[in-house]
Amino acid sequence: MTPTKIQITRPDDWHVHLRDGDALKAVAPFTAAQFARAVVMPNLSPAVTTVVQAVEYVDRIVAAIGDSDFEPLMTLYLTDDTSADEIERARKSCFIKAVKLYPAGATTNSAQGVTDIRLCDDALGAMQDCGMPLLVHGEVTDPAIDVFDREKVFIEQILLPLTNRFPKLKVVFEHITTADAVNYVLNASSNIAATITAHHLMYNRNAMFQGGMRPHMYCLPVIKREQHRQALIHAATSGNRKFFLGTDSAPHARHAKETSCGCAGIFSAHAAIEFYASLFDRHGALDKLEAFASFYGPDFYDLPWNSEKITLQKTDWTIPESYPLTEDENLIPMMAGETLNWQLVDNDPEN
Ligand code: DOR
Ligand code: ZN
Repeated sequence: MTPTKIQITRPDDWHVHLRDGDALKAVAPFTAAQFARAVVMPNLSPAVTTVVQAVEYVDRIVAAIGDSDFEPLMTLYLTDDTSADEIERARKSCFIKAVKLYPAGATTNSAQGVTDIRLCDDALGAMQDCGMPLLVHGEVTDPAIDVFDREKVFIEQILLPLTNRFPKLKVVFEHITTADAVNYVLNASSNIAATITAHHLMYNRNAMFQGGMRPHMYCLPVIKREQHRQALIHAATSGNRKFFLGTDSAPHARHAKETSCGCAGIFSAHAAIEFYASLFDRHGALDKLEAFASFYGPDFYDLPWNSEKITLQKTDWTIPESYPLTEDENLIPMMAGETLNWQLVDNDPEN
């Protein structure tokens, strides 16, 4: 008999987009309600490229979540010009936990990103020396490469040479989507890990085309074939400490997705841990959920495990059709209007 109620250590989200302004106020409480900590992506416009900008952003996040113990773990956005000195300032700040690589043009707000990774050698060397992790959006940007192959080609053309040049650099291959990425991480040294999203575990690429175009299922890296989803499920539920939870929850206004050139991003923060619980349950791996969601991430980042617990129960509930995002905009959450079979029922830190 599989359990219908579980208590686990409060999880962390090792990859989330909290945005800014009114949208930040609307979405950050969802993440703070479930997770003790979250690694916050720096792809604002303009991007968070300096420690000073990160200090200002973290203040706005703390103001947006109000009375909560939630701890934002901040990141810097790597550019061609990021200096070793900026890395040293980030390390000294203590609240900046990682540096994010966006290949220029790969995704939302990546225009300030890296045009050639070899231009970043000073910064990468400093990161390797001080143990600052590099978080990687792993897709090549060459328009001639098929969009479904961009992660695989990134491994061959960028990631393998990079990790050969900096063998001790801590790397998180973010939101992996392919069997190729799983195999790369499995065969790499222990300083290389990966996050896996709920949506890449739950859907294959058919979800984007079911009965018509489904813009709310479009994200980057784009969701792949079923065989890749199976490899991700296997990795996430295997109990291997190289794979841990990162939602990549990425809210966009409804109109910015339902348009002739829609933005990439799936919002999943409203039911993040429940999505993972449901998926792990379906695969008979509920006993592997806690380590994936609450232990392997902090272990990789050399941070303590959370002490509080949360309780999840197998109960049907209906996800709202939409949530407010700003005064005039709303967003469409993952599984909008559908029934999910696991629910966070007891969020009391005393339990
Ligand atoms: O789908 C995505 N949305 N992928 C990314 O890499 C960025 C994110 C966003 O910021 O919207
Ligand atoms: Zn992301």
